[in-house]
Amino acid sequence: MLYSEKVMDHFRNPRNVGEIPDADGIGEVGNAKCGDIMRMYIKVSDNIITDVKFMTFGCGSAIATSSIATEMIKGKSIDDALDLTNKAVVEALGGLPAHKIHCSVLAEEAVKAAVKDYYDKNHITYDCSKYSVGTCPCIHEHDNIEQ
Ligand code: FES
Repeated sequence: MLYSEKVMDHFRNPRNVGEIPDADGIGEVGNAKCGDIMRMYIKVSDNIITDVKFMTFGCGSAIATSSIATEMIKGKSIDDALDLTNKAVVEALGGLPAHKIHCSVLAEEAVKAAVKDYYDKNHITYDCSKYSVGTCPCIHEHDNIEQ
């Protein structure tokens, strides 16, 4: 079978779908190639992600990866959420076909974007090495260093 049972389960019954009106952080990311968009909402209390919801306008794999990503970061610390990799998301889903791996990247980026929004709103400085090149919010600063 192309997709694991777990992928199908999260696709058919996605967890934590919706919006959090008074979210502490919102991250929206998109994939320019496929046009899919993922939005992640987090509530944070004492550095812990107490609630998380997502809205994904995209393929089944994008829905499954965002669904499981919410389960993986709920109740965890902000630091743990930032350490969530797309690889861990794929493993938790029991694998994805190679041409669908990019959908899991969207899930990782959405979590990171939501955390970044939380940091920005609260004027918290963060470790930009947690953001991969391309998604790093201070990419321009890196550019300047390289020049
Ligand atoms: Fe675009 Fe899956 S095909 S995120």
